[in-house]
Amino acid sequence: MVTVVTHPLVQHKLSHMRDVHTGVKEFRELAAELSLLLAYEAMRDLELEPHRLSTPLESGEFPMLTGKKLALVAILRAGLIMTDSIVQLVPAAKVGHIGLYRDPQTLQPVAYYNKLPTDIAERRVFLTDPMLATGGSASAAIQSLKDAGAASIKLMSILAAPEGVAVIERDHPDVDIVVAAVDSHLNDHGYIVPGLGDAGDRIYGTK
Ligand code: PRP
Ligand code: URA
Repeated sequence: MVTVVTHPLVQHKLSHMRDVHTGVKEFRELAAELSLLLAYEAMRDLELEPHRLSTPLESGEFPMLTGKKLALVAILRAGLIMTDSIVQLVPAAKVGHIGLYRDPQTLQPVAYYNKLPTDIAERRVFLTDPMLATGGSASAAIQSLKDAGAASIKLMSILAAPEGVAVIERDHPDVDIVVAAVDSHLNDHGYIVPGLGDAGDRIYGTK
């Protein structure tokens, strides 16, 4: 299932990210803020249970998080900005990293790093990558999470192409996707159109 977060704050920030005139500092800040807003939606179904506590006025039962603990997993390198931001909301979450880059010729993902929490199988996993383009990177990352035992995985991306969404739905129908927008299509180089360009380069100023 794909959830597109249509909230005006999300759409406004995304449009600024798309703008070619938005510089590195602002782009980074927007990516971090948008990630929090996407997490708000992605974590909507976290379980709560009543806890007894006392306010300064009286005691009562009040909802607190329960159920499986969380893991945030970034696809390097662009997903880092998302996990770095979201961990502020859920500071007890463990954080994993999957290093993948997309070969510019074949557009196939190339794996170079993998470090996941050892108890990933017991955690709800939120996988982050700002761009879901061909879907090759996210699909490979999800497969390595599953190989490590993860059973509950949600993918959070800022922008997706219909092609990437279709690949995840085909390869991993159990994985829900939360995005700010699904754009028109991929161009011949596998870039999302209209998109926002190369997310890693715009976050880290490498172009
Ligand atoms: C970008 C992006 C995704 C991938 C998406 O990373 O952050 O990981 O491309 O493309 P796909 O859906 O077609 O696989 P990139 O390969 O540029 O690596 P980087 O983050 O290290 O720059
Ligand atoms: N990776 C990016 O960073 N941007 C795209 O449009 C496609 C893949």
